[in-house]
Amino acid sequence: MTRQPTPEDRFSFGLWTVGWTGTDPFGGPTRPALDPWEYSDRLAGLGAWGISFHDDDVHAFDADEATKDARIDKLRAACDAAGLVVEMVTTNTFSHPVFKDGGLTANDRSVRRFGLRKILRAVDVAARLGATTFVMWGGREGAEYDGSKDLHAAFERYKEGLDTVAAYIKEQGHDLRIALEPKPNEPRGDILLPTVGHALALIAELEHGDIVGVNPEVGHEQMAGLNFTHGIGQALWSEKLFHIDLNGQRGIKYDQDLVFGHGDLASAFFTVDLLENGFPGSPGAPRYTGARHFDYKPSRTEGLDGVWESARACMATYLLLAEKAAAFRADPRVAEAWEHAGVTELATPTLGPGETVAALRASDEGFDPDEAGRRDGGFVRLNQLAIEHLVG
Ligand code: GCO
Ligand code: MN
Ligand code: MN
Repeated sequence: MTRQPTPEDRFSFGLWTVGWTGTDPFGGPTRPALDPWEYSDRLAGLGAWGISFHDDDVHAFDADEATKDARIDKLRAACDAAGLVVEMVTTNTFSHPVFKDGGLTANDRSVRRFGLRKILRAVDVAARLGATTFVMWGGREGAEYDGSKDLHAAFERYKEGLDTVAAYIKEQGHDLRIALEPKPNEPRGDILLPTVGHALALIAELEHGDIVGVNPEVGHEQMAGLNFTHGIGQALWSEKLFHIDLNGQRGIKYDQDLVFGHGDLASAFFTVDLLENGFPGSPGAPRYTGARHFDYKPSRTEGLDGVWESARACMATYLLLAEKAAAFRADPRVAEAWEHAGVTELATPTLGPGETVAALRASDEGFDPDEAGRRDGGFVRLNQLAIEHLVG
């Protein structure tokens, strides 16, 4: 057992998470759909701090403008009454058949123009509701067949679309940053920006990249066999970790969207340790201060009770891991193991202050590579201390 979550924990949930009715490619819904404000009320009752949503989570894709606004205002009023923040808003550019070849990178120019208008409308909603992050997950930006996409043009159009949205945000003076969400595949055979690294590389090419960062998802990196903690570590180092999607995934397969910690638990421990306690040997390094946002799916086997139970489980697991990570950091044996393993030494620059390459090359410190090659790393002992804190 652990303590109840409070708004100070900054836990938030996408409405589409608890709102997933269980429809998958093989079967229809196993649960009823509730109204958006019913989900937000329940989440507030569980101790969440905020919510996020896609435009089409709140209203029908083809609702008229007045209906769209009325439903969004009703959700906003419910959140205000429940003390919930709308911390992130995003656009659905993947469900309607019009987006079957993407929103910003569809071959059909008229679809791209429609997609951009839909995204810009969602930006207005985000600003109106006081959200500070605007996630852009390009789920349909991709292809099944390599020959069906001019990749140079696709990246040009992706850049054009992102710069147009970012420039609009700046021009309107909104306190809003874009967070790109990488994913390797599903629903497309291959999605553009498959990993955190690909997204960071695209951001570096943007004109307005200063307000564009990433929203990495645990399962998306793990679907590609990658290390999630390394992914968010690089994003933090680049000062681009604007948002996060926490969930669970067991290995390289379809996007499982399990409860946070129900996949690779040791990886989840080090993720929470990094988010809560920062890099171990770099005290001045960037820290994550954003929402602890869950993007999971209550398994299709569960009824509505299981939906709330799974949302509670995401937060409880995070809090338990945060407690374990704090104890790990406070353990004097860990400090000693870091020292032995050289974890804290890595923060010391390789060159001395003002040292030239010539001076480096001329230096002879009596270094014995054979001796250094025999050094005991002590990494296993360090990891075992983490495991003992985790399951001990
Ligand atoms: C997925 C994605 C989405 C996005 C969401 C926000 O795999 O379906 O993770 O859930 O996070 O669309 O943009
Ligand atoms: Mn996902
Ligand atoms: Mn996600």
